[in-house]
Order: sequence, then structure tokens, then C-alpha cells
Amino acid sequence: MFPDLTRDDVFRIETRRLWLRWPTAKDKDSILKLAGDRSVAEMLARVPHPLPAPVVDTFVLQARAENAAGAGLTLALAKRSAPTSLIGVISIHPGTDTVPELGYWLGQPYWGAGLMREAVRALCDAFFAYAGGTDLASSARTENPASRRVLEACGFAQIGTGTKPFPARGADLPVDLFHLDRGRWQALAAEAALTEAA
Ligand SMILES: CC(C)(COP(=O)(O)OP(=O)(O)OC[C@H]1O[C@@H](n2cnc3c(N)ncnc32)[C@H](O)[C@@H]1OP(=O)(O)O)[C@@H](O)C(=O)NCCC(=O)NCCS
Repeated sequence: MFPDLTRDDVFRIETRRLWLRWPTAKDKDSILKLAGDRSVAEMLARVPHPLPAPVVDTFVLQARAENAAGAGLTLALAKRSAPTSLIGVISIHPGTDTVPELGYWLGQPYWGAGLMREAVRALCDAFFAYAGGTDLASSARTENPASRRVLEACGFAQIGTGTKPFPARGADLPVDLFHLDRGRWQALAAEAALTEAA
């Protein structure tokens, strides 16, 4: 799904405030602390609470293997001022119904500053511009208005509601379903370029 460019572990995306880079074994403690927080884990399908250390080891190894194979792209978020300190994770994976799916989490101390919006825009740009993506899906628990706001601000449209498996929560849970296609992304990118030039 992803080209040679992203398959090398020196690959990174820089935004105004963030680096999006491959996760490494050194991120383990930050992931344990931040994704181990109940307020983060409870919105996610595959992060158990409490979060055992071996689950984090497996996550990092799998993410790096998938990145190297181009089968998906999982990136650690870090502030540009502290690129080795992970503050969140963002990923695109093959979806259950063939449309690739975007997922993300940010550590609770970093919420409310628009950081995830910045990261989502950057990863969508990478997906559509140099991975040749045509469609991207995402979903959020119906009780997750912050995630809904992030997706809407990045151009995703809600296409319905449904239920999705949340194995780490032990149930199928209601979600809002979102979609962004290449045409809409191109229109938004053109608008942003015009605003920047003005
Ligand atoms: C969802 C999440 C990524 C948002 O990241 P963030 O960088 O804090 O997002 P933002 O600062 O852009 O805030 C998003 C918007 O939601 C709003 N918001 C935050 N909490 C809210 C709440 N409880 N109710 C309503 N709106 C809320 C913010 O005010 C902001 O609104 P705005 O668009 O008008 O500015 C982060 O909260 C998170 O990681 N949560 C736990 C894991 C998770 O939910 N992952 C996504 C799974 S789908």
C-alpha cells in the first residue's frame, strides 16, 4: 500500500509542531504510560487496560514490520522540540472492507491543542499524494466527540453509523463511520494552498 519512501526507518513527516516518525523500542515506556491511561485506552479497539508491557513490545515490532513491508504505515508522534519523546501514534492500515483505515491516539496531557488535527492532515497528504491512495475510512465511538471533530476538521464526512469489534473492550460497540476520498482531499489541499498564498 505504501511506497519505498515510507518503508525506510529514516522516513519522517514534519509539520509545524510535530514529527511523525517510525516507532522504536525506545518508545516503549511512553506508550505504556500514555496509552495505558484509561481515558485513551477506552476509545481504542485494541489497547487493553491495564496495558501489559509485552503487548507494547509486540505492537512496536509489528508496526515496524508492516512499515518495512509497505503493508501499512504506523508513525509515532513527537514534538519537534523533543523528537525522541513519543506523545501519540497515528496509522493507516488495510481496512476490513478493503478501504484503508486511519486510526490514532494522543496522550492525555497533550489533548486540546489541535495536535492530532495537524498529524491527521499530514498523514492524509502522504497517503493521497505519494501512496496513490483513493479512499480512506475512519471511525470513532459515538461517545467520542473529540475524535469526530478531528475527522470533520480534516475533511472526513460521516457516511453512517454501525458497530465495530473492540476486542480490548470485550464487545462490539457503536461507532460513527467516516470517509475521505481523493477528490475531496484535492479540493481541500487546493483551498489550503490558496489561503497560504493570500
Ligand atoms: C481524539 C483525540 C485524538 C483528539 O486529539 P486533540 O489533539 O486533543 O484534538 P483537538 O485539540 O483538535 O480537539 C478536537 C476538538 O474536540 C473538542 N473536544 C474535546 N473534547 C470534547 C468533548 N468531550 N466533547 C466535545 N468536544 C470535545 C475540542 O474542543 C476540539 O474542538 P474544535 O474542533 O472546536 O477546536 C484525543 O483526544 C485522543 O487521543 N483521545 C483518546 C484516543 C482516541 O479517542 N483516539 C481516536 C479513536 S477514533
